[in-house]
Amino acid sequence: MTNHDQDPAENGATHGADSSGHSPILSDGDSDIVLEARGVTKHFPVRRTVGDLVGRRHRTVHAVDDVSLRLRRGSVTALVGESGSGKSTVARLLSQLYPLTGGEIRLGGVPVKAGRGRSFRAYVKQVQLIFQDPFASLNPVHTVRYHLTRSLKIHGKQATEAEACELLERVQLLPPLQYLDKFPHELSGGQRQRVAIARALGADPKVLLADEPVSMLDVSIRLGVLNLLRDLKERLHLAILYITHDIASARYFADTTLVMYAGRIVEGGDSETVTQQPAHPYTQLLIASAPDPDRIVDEEDQEETGSGEPPSLISPPEGCRFHPRCPKAMERCRTELPPRFELDDGQWAACWLYEDRPVATTIPGASTTDAGTDAGTDGASTTEVAAK
Ligand SMILES: Nc1ncnc2c1ncn2[C@@H]1O[C@H](COP(=O)(O)OP(=O)(O)OP(=O)(O)O)[C@@H](O)[C@H]1O
Ligand code: SF4
Ligand SMILES: [Mg+2]
Repeated sequence: MTNHDQDPAENGATHGADSSGHSPILSDGDSDIVLEARGVTKHFPVRRTVGDLVGRRHRTVHAVDDVSLRLRRGSVTALVGESGSGKSTVARLLSQLYPLTGGEIRLGGVPVKAGRGRSFRAYVKQVQLIFQDPFASLNPVHTVRYHLTRSLKIHGKQATEAEACELLERVQLLPPLQYLDKFPHELSGGQRQRVAIARALGADPKVLLADEPVSMLDVSIRLGVLNLLRDLKERLHLAILYITHDIASARYFADTTLVMYAGRIVEGGDSETVTQQPAHPYTQLLIASAPDPDRIVDEEDQEETGSGEPPSLISPPEGCRFHPRCPKAMERCRTELPPRFELDDGQWAACWLYEDRPVATTIPGASTTDAGTDAGTDGASTTEVAAK
């Protein structure tokens, strides 16, 4: 059995319950799960060199491998990891901007077929992507009014001034008439990002995929934008994926946190638990390099967090991808991909240090499977899918 043969809730790449897994494993009928990735994989073909042509090699970047996650209504899920770990690729796959190399995406429990035209528009109406750089995402020659009314029109609204003002009110740009006829360069970075969020809300989406939404903003205004997103989550019951390098902000902002390393999700759980008691050595490294005054870390742990650079995703390490950097690496880590081991309170880690813990293998109502064992030995099979 390969990882793709399993229910993603059972495999080693995600917790069975939801994206973080801090609640019991849920069945597909859970109406709170809005968007779901099941064993999603993305390999990008690498431009062939003369050596590749002579050797008839087709190399690929293994940007995302076997990623499963579930986004729930009224909940923020943080996806945290270093640069190049595949976070933006996950967001782009979830927003249907890239075709999948493997796996499946489900919206409202229904598998989504990649399409164009009407089906794509119907999809983006429900799943909106917010980019890192609000200046680049707004057209400099158009006013706020243009951006908002265009979004409203595309999504079938009348696009009246009142509707545009309502969007500005939702993102707390008040009084709205003061902003409506401004151009992007007349706004601050934070105001531009609020306009980008208002434009996304013009679709009445169920899901916001926020790819580093505050990383280009001044530190002083980041909190305001994160608070706005949290407020929208609560008032509009949005499911939000919050992508960030900054694990400390995940603790503050996200209900659940997933940690991504070299294309794979390696740990998940309730944000407080993952950030205060990180289980995976990579999460410990991330935490150690993001000082948090509230956290008490003993000195021994600090010394053992590891160092080094992320691996090449063209030929990622066998076994656990973190093993070349891991101070706790064992022999089997070099050859065997660890499955997800269940820890306490819904936390999980894909790490052989926890092999005495149960491997998550069951869904309520389903019989126990050998999923965990396969996830440990056969996960690499998902990487064999031909790149698109
Ligand atoms: N269109 C593409 N073609 C080829 N390789 C790509 C493409 N997009 C991303 N990659 C590669 O996939 C890997 C993951 O990239 P991605 O942008 O998803 O990472 P990230 O975690 O978002 O990084 P950052 O934090 O720097 O934004 C990287 O090695 C990147 O070079
Ligand atoms: S599986 Fe091994 S190499 Fe990977 S994080 Fe755990 S101890 Fe380190
Ligand atoms: Mg990115």
